[in-house]
Amino acid sequence: MKNSFVILVIGAFLFLFMASPVVAQSEVKALVEKECSRCHGIARVNKASKDAAAWEKTVNRMIKKGAAIKPEEKDDVIKYLSTLKK
Ligand code: HEC
Repeated sequence: MKNSFVILVIGAFLFLFMASPVVAQSEVKALVEKECSRCHGIARVNKASKDAAAWEKTVNRMIKKGAAIKPEEKDDVIKYLSTLKK
């Protein structure tokens, strides 16, 4: 009885551990698709092929122009954008 509880707890942690990055990634994708298509099409974003350092510069420039990306979201946005690299 005790053993099955331990297995259940470990299982729940494993599930959360594996599920959370996927959720975060799709939330960031939705944010980028909404916020980064306000002034130009999302094609401009998806077409660009940059590494993380180049994206950081671009995202900072877009924030200066008025993109509503919060400071705590910036790293996730840059990470997501870097995965678009062809
Ligand atoms: C307030 C308007 C605005 C928003 C919001 C905005 N952009 Fe832009 N973006 C521009 C303008 C204007 C240009 C063209 C001038 C320039 O490149 O600085 C541009 C150009 C670009 C370019 C092409 C130039 C380059 O450096 O490769 C990319 C890529 C880009 N934006 C990505 C993004 C991303 C990613 C976001 C969301 C984080 C975003 N933009 C949100 C206004 C905006």
